[in-house]
Amino acid sequence: MYWQHLTLLAIPAIFCAWTAGQQTLILGSLPVVPLAVRSPYLNAWINLKLEDGTVVPSPGGTWPTVSNGQGIGWVGLVRVDGKASYEWQGNQGGFLPTNTTALYMTATRTVFTIQAGPVEFNVTYLSPVEEQPSDWVRQSFPFSYVSIDTVWSTDGQEHQVQFYLDTTGEWLSNDHDEELTWSTSAASKSVIHSIKRTHQQSFNENGDFATDGSVYFAISRTYPSLTWQSGFSTDIRLLFGNQGALNNTEDAQHRAMYSTQPAVATSINLGTFLTTASPIVWAIGYVRDPAIRYTVGQSTQLRRSYFWTKYQTINDAIDDFLLDFPSALSRAIELDNKVLADAAQVSSKYATVTALCLRQTFGAMDITVSKTTSGDWNESDVKIFMKDLGNSRRINPVEVLFAALPAFLYFNPTLVRYLLDPLLDFSISSNPVNGYAPSDIGSTYPDVNGTLGDQYSFGLDTSATMLTMILAHAQKSGDATLIETYFPLLKLWADFLVANTLDINKFSSSDGLAKFDSNLALKGIIGVYAMSEMSRLFEQGTSSSSLSDSYASAAENMTQHWFALGLSSDGHMTSSNGVESSWGLAYCLYASALLNASWIDEKVLVFPIIYLIVINCSNQIINAQTSFYGSQIGLAGDYGLPYTSGASLTRSDWTLFTAAALTDNTLRDDMISAVFARMHLNRSDCPWPISYDSQTGSLNGGCASPSQGAMFALLAKKLANQPISVNISNGAISRSLTAPTTSATGPAYSTETEHPGQQNMSVIIGSVLGCLAGAGFIFGSLFFLRKRWNRKTALARMRRTSAFAVDEEKTAATPTTSLKVVGKRQMIHPRPESDLPNSTSVVLRNEVEGLRREVAFLREIRSEAGPPPVYDGPL
Ligand SMILES: *[C@@H]1O[C@H](CO)[C@@H](O)[C@H](O)[C@H]1NC(C)=O
Ligand SMILES: *[C@@H]1O[C@H](CO)[C@@H](O)[C@H](O)[C@H]1NC(C)=O
Ligand SMILES: *[C@@H]1O[C@H](CO)[C@@H](O)[C@H](O)[C@H]1NC(C)=O
Ligand SMILES: *[C@@H]1O[C@H](CO)[C@@H](O)[C@H](O)[C@H]1NC(C)=O
Ligand SMILES: *[C@@H]1O[C@H](CO)[C@@H](O)[C@H](O)[C@H]1NC(C)=O
Ligand SMILES: *[C@@H]1O[C@H](CO)[C@@H](O)[C@H](O)[C@H]1NC(C)=O
Ligand SMILES: *[C@@H]1O[C@H](CO)[C@@H](O)[C@H](O)[C@H]1NC(C)=O
Ligand SMILES: *[C@@H]1O[C@H](CO)[C@@H](O)[C@H](O)[C@H]1NC(C)=O
Ligand SMILES: *[C@@H]1O[C@H](CO)[C@@H](O)[C@H](O)[C@H]1NC(C)=O
Ligand SMILES: *[C@@H]1O[C@H](CO)[C@@H](O)[C@H](O)[C@H]1NC(C)=O
Repeated sequence: MYWQHLTLLAIPAIFCAWTAGQQTLILGSLPVVPLAVRSPYLNAWINLKLEDGTVVPSPGGTWPTVSNGQGIGWVGLVRVDGKASYEWQGNQGGFLPTNTTALYMTATRTVFTIQAGPVEFNVTYLSPVEEQPSDWVRQSFPFSYVSIDTVWSTDGQEHQVQFYLDTTGEWLSNDHDEELTWSTSAASKSVIHSIKRTHQQSFNENGDFATDGSVYFAISRTYPSLTWQSGFSTDIRLLFGNQGALNNTEDAQHRAMYSTQPAVATSINLGTFLTTASPIVWAIGYVRDPAIRYTVGQSTQLRRSYFWTKYQTINDAIDDFLLDFPSALSRAIELDNKVLADAAQVSSKYATVTALCLRQTFGAMDITVSKTTSGDWNESDVKIFMKDLGNSRRINPVEVLFAALPAFLYFNPTLVRYLLDPLLDFSISSNPVNGYAPSDIGSTYPDVNGTLGDQYSFGLDTSATMLTMILAHAQKSGDATLIETYFPLLKLWADFLVANTLDINKFSSSDGLAKFDSNLALKGIIGVYAMSEMSRLFEQGTSSSSLSDSYASAAENMTQHWFALGLSSDGHMTSSNGVESSWGLAYCLYASALLNASWIDEKVLVFPIIYLIVINCSNQIINAQTSFYGSQIGLAGDYGLPYTSGASLTRSDWTLFTAAALTDNTLRDDMISAVFARMHLNRSDCPWPISYDSQTGSLNGGCASPSQGAMFALLAKKLANQPISVNISNGAISRSLTAPTTSATGPAYSTETEHPGQQNMSVIIGSVLGCLAGAGFIFGSLFFLRKRWNRKTALARMRRTSAFAVDEEKTAATPTTSLKVVGKRQMIHPRPESDLPNSTSVVLRNEVEGLRREVAFLREIRSEAGPPPVYDGPL
């Protein structure tokens, strides 16, 4: 079998940039790589494996797939010296197999080096991400390039070489009986093939396939030797194999997808040479027009992809796209190098995860524009729609936007404005206006018509997330338009948060994973903090600061109560209210890190490690602590920590958010490594998923999800804030806004707690002491965690090098924490004044005692385990 001949797969520049060529990846260790990923329906990948789990590190010998894993008939052939024909893409069979000798991946490109007998060539799949601010024409054009970069002889002899690439209609439907219609335009600058469904249904989907699109496949006519054809796929592939050219004829007999399967093809004769540079460029695209039906209230807009503002016909747009290839490539290289340079400052693994995530983040969107009533383009009316790719047809889901936010902020924060605008638009248009933010703007992409179902239980998460994103956008872009336009609505949401954030049992996180956890409550507080910052912008230059002050102090008050609710007695964040031993990935701390919410930082981030690993440092004998802690360490699987204690699942986006919020680089790198390990899991069933088992890596969901934009969390955090100026005469703001009230609708604490200040102090002191003890404890214990992790990684590495044979030795047992409900701590409950000093001192005494023991224990660990790990300091 041909893949047995394959040797090490070198991954050149991306890994070598900082290791002087030392580092290589094992053959096939990236299981799925993007080929053409520009929109929810132009989303093609190559899955580097066969059914039996054997890795095939080549686009040849396996079928490309769309995001849900469905294969597409997209075949590339090369014919050498008029006798041997090789298949370099797809799995038609009947041709000689190729060898792939290298795979090189950057943020926008996948490059394979392919050996076909005595010639080798590089094929590049480029899916541009246009960083240049607000180049909506280019960014909205749902096309990718496939290019043959260089072809060279490997035996010193000249060879005659012909190339071939085709596509079938499998981009359009998963129904074999789907009737198709196709055509070829060969008259002007390019040969442009297109295929569509004969029976179109607007703005609908069937099994992840849009029911109203056309796939385009084009090549410039500047090649003198260009031939083309449409017809039965097997026949035209054989024709090329036999004669190295096609018939330039169209098959006019339109028929079903699998009825003598129709394909459209092109071929180029490169002639005879030793080496030739940049010979061939193809374009592959998927166009739906109009792209989005947008129904708000009584009005419906048919919105088109933005590129139509520049082009009259699709053929003009395709001609330009093909002509633009040299500069598109150099823009892409510049962008790739920038991402690589920035990410490599963190680590080589981080450079890899940022490179793989970019195309899937940008490939889930449609950038649209509307027309005015007089029929002209309204170029200021940009709206961007994102599909919940890999999960559902939900549109602009708030939690997915938030996960992807770091990538957008890093490349172009203006994208965030146009992604959030439809959510805000829907919110103000609903009647009556909800007091909390929606979860999305519909669940039938690309038909945008509003949210159905339960919104209230997600209202805390969505309102807080929206306020956070709106402030982050303003901070990173300097553009206050959203704040100006929607200020009263934002205030409504913030008041909802003030009233409800600590009312913990009513809400769950918007992905439905978590019922109350301290993450969610902290998110609510950060949302209120964001509102105080936005109010401050409004009050700039006025004598008043009452609004911003009142939100700031509400956030402050809530934080103090959160310490009692959300932290256990040892100071770690619980994931389940009142369950002392519960813990989780503290992903929401990323929101405060991003917004530079220093008040949170000071109080919470001082002891970041605490929030990941539980310690029980109050009143415990050392043995009990040791065994408890040992069990927590056991929870770290090869693919990371579970998102919450008691679960086995984890998520790559939350893992990266947590890693980015930490100020500890060692732990950060461990978390990146865990995500990196899942990315390389060779059993991947689909494009890089978000959610999986932390121990086994088995898939839970979110294939090709845009949430993977969270990988940019570390880079987004470092972005400088821009000066923001709010123009009060824009938008809807009136100055007579009232301060939030907490008494009537407010949280329980405002009325029931008798001496909030005093009590809170005791809580804080208790927590801080507990944390101090725990931090020291953890530094020692972290060492074991690292050792374990390293050992696992080494094992995995050994397994990989031993030629695909060995399976993991791990049992499938799901780890469980010994969850023990210890009830709410007494401190949480308001007590009469007389009780306070006493209980405070008891708590303090206990904490101090705990601290003493921790320190003693820590000394023991140190003497046994050698020095603690070295910390590089914060990023
Ligand atoms: C082909 O691609 C590889 C990366 O996979 C690169 O190192 C090499 O320089 C390329 N060769 C040519 C001739 O462009
Ligand atoms: C693939 O590599 C093997 C081993 O080097 C070689 O024998 C075979 O001819 C190569 N196949 C092609 C298509 O180049
Ligand atoms: C190509 O053209 C030749 C000559 O007209 C014809 O015999 C042959 O059947 C055609 N092949 C295909 C696959 O269309
Ligand atoms: C263009 O769009 C903007 C933003 O939606 C809107 O405010 C404006 O009224 C539109 N202009 C026209 C002429 O329709
Ligand atoms: C939105 O449109 C879909 C069909 O595309 C329909 O099933 C759904 O009921 C509509 N929702 C609302 C809220 O009108
Ligand atoms: C916060 O708590 C203080 C007392 O600790 C109180 O004076 C103030 O009104 C509270 N602010 C809000 C917004 O609840
Ligand atoms: C933490 O300490 C308390 C107090 O002794 C104990 O009851 C509890 O079991 C410990 N928690 C865990 C998770 O071990
Ligand atoms: C974050 O806030 C601190 C003060 O709270 C300030 O010194 C620092 O410059 C801010 N950082 C950024 C990136 O804005
Ligand atoms: C503020 O907005 C108003 C109305 O849009 C405009 O006339 C004015 O020039 C703006 N002021 C500044 C300082 O941008
Ligand atoms: C790929 O996964 C299979 C199990 O599905 C395993 O047997 C094999 O060793 C793995 N190969 C590599 C290179 O890791």
